[in-house]
Amino acid sequence: MSSLHLVLVPTYNERENIQALLDAICVHPDVHVLVIDDASPDGTANEVTTHPFFEDRVFLLSREGKQGLGAAYRAGFAWGFERPYETLTQMDADFSHHPEDLPRLLAEIEGGADVAIGSRRVHGGQIVGWSLWRQFSSAAAMTASRVLLGLKTKDVTAGFRTWRRGFIERLPVLSLKSNGYAFQEEMMLTAEQHGAAVREVPVTFRDRERGASKLGLHEIQEFFYTLGRLTLIRRKRFAMYAVIGAMGSVVDLGGFVFFHHHFGMGVLEANILATSIAVLHNFLWHNFVTFKKHRKRTQVAFVEFIAVSLVGMILNSLVVLAGVSVGLWPVVAKILAIGCVTVWNYLLNSRVTFKV
Ligand code: GDD
Ligand code: MN
Repeated sequence: MSSLHLVLVPTYNERENIQALLDAICVHPDVHVLVIDDASPDGTANEVTTHPFFEDRVFLLSREGKQGLGAAYRAGFAWGFERPYETLTQMDADFSHHPEDLPRLLAEIEGGADVAIGSRRVHGGQIVGWSLWRQFSSAAAMTASRVLLGLKTKDVTAGFRTWRRGFIERLPVLSLKSNGYAFQEEMMLTAEQHGAAVREVPVTFRDRERGASKLGLHEIQEFFYTLGRLTLIRRKRFAMYAVIGAMGSVVDLGGFVFFHHHFGMGVLEANILATSIAVLHNFLWHNFVTFKKHRKRTQVAFVEFIAVSLVGMILNSLVVLAGVSVGLWPVVAKILAIGCVTVWNYLLNSRVTFKV
């Protein structure tokens, strides 16, 4: 039994491209196409309905007016989720993303990726036909997004991506807010926050030969607005995590000083006891404040939090012992250990314990 794949193609005035594109996609077996058209004045929708495979392998979702790329994709994903497709691919209608590359993306999903990106930013990928200015703006926008949002993906605004259905169905795609091109980066952020296994496949992106780009001032404004909005949301949580982490460190450090220096416990025992108290303190804050919108069952989260913390504690003790053995003051070694472990714990807790 072979599995079915869906390619989502948003269109606005792509009459000159759409027939050839549908032909090129339909070359691949077991692939269906959904064109999401925003009432293109040039009659793109009409071209779709005259395709020989219309309503067999080629489908059309007609919308009332131009509502933006993101809005079109949300409608397309909703359509796909109602039908038994194994993968959903996003692709532009203008041949900048070539259907020939589709099998390489599908193969990555087959190989275990949650999302395969037709990437211009990995070795072997390239952009052909863009002005220096457009190349520079794109690179700047991507660098800003990656740094501010902490993204690992290189081509964050890529519009050519194949998603594993089982993965994307669990993302809150349909409630993402951006309507324009910013939707692409917002989706990527959400995917990474949900622990996506991302594979970037090098592709050659060729600027369109027919029709015009829809990238306008409005899209650029929304891109920066979205970047600011997402960064704020992310930083808020960072700030909260750091404050609670600092409070936990005070508990941890205070406990250590008390148990070791005043109570006379050994370095290791005092460290374990102080850290255990700090772990409970931190969990309560993170569960009810920092990650209150991302909570799982408290018991489950607590067990995972303890597991993360235990590994952290071992790391913590190793750093303390290593520090002391190279001649650091126990308290200094302890401060160093808290720093290392805070970073480690944030990475794991935000991805595993609380599923941001
Ligand atoms: N339905 C619908 N509604 N489709 C739209 C809309 C809209 O409001 N705006 C654009 N599209 C469609 C276009 O018809 C095309 O198929 C696709 O979205 C991409 O639009 P282009 O106008 O060709 O984008 P580009 O070449 O300037 O943009 C490239 O860079 C972006 C930012 O990096 C592409 O690679 C995009 O995928 C990418 O996000
Ligand atoms: Mn284009």
